[in-house]
Amino acid sequence: MLKSKDLLGLRNVSAGEIGEILDTAELMKVVITSNNKKTPHLQGRSVVTVFYENSTRTRLSFELACKYMSGTASNISAPSSSVTKGETLIDTARTLDVMGTDVMILRHPMSGAPHLMARNVRASVINAGDGTNEHPTQALLDMYTMRSRLGGLKGLRVAIVGDVTHSRVARSNIYGLTTMGASVVVAGPPTLLPVEVESIGCEATSKVDDAVRGADVVMGLRIQLERQKKGLFPSVREYHKYFGLTEERLTLARPGALIMHPGPLNRGVEISTAVANSPASTIDEQVTNGVAVRMALLFLLTRQKNQMEAAS
Ligand code: CP
Repeated sequence: MLKSKDLLGLRNVSAGEIGEILDTAELMKVVITSNNKKTPHLQGRSVVTVFYENSTRTRLSFELACKYMSGTASNISAPSSSVTKGETLIDTARTLDVMGTDVMILRHPMSGAPHLMARNVRASVINAGDGTNEHPTQALLDMYTMRSRLGGLKGLRVAIVGDVTHSRVARSNIYGLTTMGASVVVAGPPTLLPVEVESIGCEATSKVDDAVRGADVVMGLRIQLERQKKGLFPSVREYHKYFGLTEERLTLARPGALIMHPGPLNRGVEISTAVANSPASTIDEQVTNGVAVRMALLFLLTRQKNQMEAAS
């Protein structure tokens, strides 16, 4: 059983809880790969995605997850809401809460925004990406994909390559993977590696080849041009040459290593098209698994709420 009413990050989520989410996602994957994508698990429950930043995968997969489980899915995106009239995040959240929302899924440019929301509402809050802090559901679907392809997480060596400084995906994966007994090495230009990143449990190097050598999984990160000031790397062409995932560089990884990327891709920048489209790439599978993992989370959080309501 999950300990909290919310999923705000993986920093303080136990191996047992992660295992329960991944096991439940396995059951949900059977549903989404069938011709009858319908369960009653969220019947009578209301889920709202609240997105202050753009998204394709995360937002749609949460909405599909809710609909596949017979819940009511609604969306607010900041540009078309009363946020543009100056409404605060807390007032928006309370408004949704008193409309009877059971789960709010928040993407926000400010690190810590979901924590603020969670403290002010009765609903469960799921972090769908907050600034450069965490993107826990992305890391859960990444771990699900690794576990289903490689048989487990313990003992894996995972190389995470690219713009680590701006990556909430990297941070959540470091927390989750190390909790599950994998080792993580992050690599990228020194300007895109956070100072003292090792303090959160990973190795770090500016030599991508060293990180990729012997890795079971190589995960590319998107260059986040929207969060960058100019000048953090010389040019896109040089970035691809020295830090990109290319066929030549990936010969250093373990035979059978997985190539992962959270999407959206900058093809020819952090990953070549040949690598992204190769048989080792799990990019499409990650997207499918994202629906299963988000179904599992919605199920587990609302089940916990049902149990708490029954007990009170
Ligand atoms: N990986 C990910 O979060 O993608 P979106 O921005 O499309 O949701």
